[in-house]
Amino acid sequence: MTDNVNSPKKWEADYERKTDGWDLGGPTPVFKRLATSGQFPPGRMIVLGAGRGHDAREFARHGFEVTAVDFAAHAAEEMRRLADPSAPVRIMQSDLFALPQEFRHSFDYVLEYTCFCAIDPGRRSEYADLVAQLLKPEGTYIDLAFPLDGRAGGPPFAVRESEVLDLFGKRGFKLIAREKPDESIRVRRHAEELFIFQKGVGGQVRR
Ligand SMILES: C[S@@+](CC[C@H](N)C(=O)[O-])C[C@H]1O[C@@H](n2cnc3c(N)ncnc32)[C@H](O)[C@@H]1O
Repeated sequence: MTDNVNSPKKWEADYERKTDGWDLGGPTPVFKRLATSGQFPPGRMIVLGAGRGHDAREFARHGFEVTAVDFAAHAAEEMRRLADPSAPVRIMQSDLFALPQEFRHSFDYVLEYTCFCAIDPGRRSEYADLVAQLLKPEGTYIDLAFPLDGRAGGPPFAVRESEVLDLFGKRGFKLIAREKPDESIRVRRHAEELFIFQKGVGGQVRR
């Protein structure tokens, strides 16, 4: 076992010991609304750190072509077990920092919830570069940022709104919407915020 968040072993241990309290047991409520809002036409979506894939399946059910990435074997097995044949999802057991080159600029949407806070905080710039690389020009990054509560330690490691705005603003992303969703589960209501960014046409990536 390891506490190293960069290793899938840490996450596999959490799933096996059932210390996976992040799992809502179904799609994230605000994502259910977004999937049906008509604001986001179906397109190619990648879900980073997808866990059991509840959100990936939700968007697939609404016509999105979804790739769900998680490096924990248990998460990938669970996604296969829970697969909905009427809403197929491409399941990839892979480190998100080691995705194939062919993924570059190929997604209309990147979706994240409780993945950004799970990675090593020292890798957040690398993560933002990755999101920029995955998206097509003018692609959309849907980020339900959590936990915005200044907690010490982690995972989940605290997220600051100024940090999110800075990381993506520097890379040419435009913030197109933000909100504190009414649908957030009670214990997270004051600690999460939805940010929706649009990547620039030039797809700037800071080097
Ligand atoms: C806190 S869980 C959240 C899972 C899911 N998003 C949810 O809300 O239920 C974080 C997930 O990210 C995965 N993860 C963490 N670092 C990763 C990495 N570098 N590459 C791929 N998956 C990663 C873990 O295996 C774990 O399933």
